[in-house]
Amino acid sequence: MKRKITVIGSVNMDLVTLADRTPKAGETILGKAFHTIPGGKGANQAVAAARLGAEATFIGCVGDDDFGRLMTQRLQDEGINIDYVKPVTHVSTGIAAITISEGDNRIIVVPGANSHVTAEYVQKHEEVIAASDAIVLQLEIPVDGVKKAMELARKHRVKIILNPAPFQVLSKEMLLLADYLTPNEHEQAELLAAGNWTEAEREEILQKCIVTRGAAGASIYQNGEKLIPGYPVEAVDTTGAGDTFNGALAFSLSGNADLEEACRFANAAGALSVTKLGAQGGMPTSEEVAEFLQRQEG
Ligand code: RIB
Ligand code: NA
Repeated sequence: MKRKITVIGSVNMDLVTLADRTPKAGETILGKAFHTIPGGKGANQAVAAARLGAEATFIGCVGDDDFGRLMTQRLQDEGINIDYVKPVTHVSTGIAAITISEGDNRIIVVPGANSHVTAEYVQKHEEVIAASDAIVLQLEIPVDGVKKAMELARKHRVKIILNPAPFQVLSKEMLLLADYLTPNEHEQAELLAAGNWTEAEREEILQKCIVTRGAAGASIYQNGEKLIPGYPVEAVDTTGAGDTFNGALAFSLSGNADLEEACRFANAAGALSVTKLGAQGGMPTSEEVAEFLQRQEG
């Protein structure tokens, strides 16, 4: 049986500039290269799941412009159902201005059309959510849209994976609706610091957490903290590694893997993704993950 994964989220065109160093305020420097690369956390997660073999559906909005058309086509080329991707007028497709210099990336996201993925828009797709095995969410669309998707998924007993990135403070109610929360270490610290939790609530939130730690792997908290180690690879571009991890996690958990197994699988997918330029470049198929894991063990 195909695993039905629905991603409700963002589509951005990544405008990537490579430079030797980061300019100071008021300074102009010459960069080395420029690329326009499809991205957006939501789209990336959907592509990750689709490449692995999921029956992936994307719910989101793009502008009525070239970037929007191009990226909708790209999603379709990946085999993703784009019936619920809406072009909206008078607003640009989301973009991410990314500068890669001195081994780091700096990102400014302009949500544009992504801000039209409201509770009202999500509500229209209740049936799509109800028919899914799992939904995946991030925070590049309005929080009320995210919350609505979670409520609908809960109502229909659909697994919910919430990647709380880019970080913003979320209500206790919302965090408790998720089955899995996938912050990185900084986001986890902020997440736990933000709430006015009782000890029991804090523990409940922690139990849902799968904390991504880059090349080191990911931690789970079912019986105290346990690190599921990552895999060392030669990284070319780490943009989108977390998104690959989330898409792969959803895919693996929908196939009844246990949490440790799912994290190993997602770690491997994430590792493969950073070996190529661009958020979606390098995202593997299931066969590629299996081969990679075999090589790691052998
Ligand atoms: O997680 C990586 C993504 O974050 C990029 O593709 C960029 O669009 C930003 O939204
Ligand atoms: Na990549």
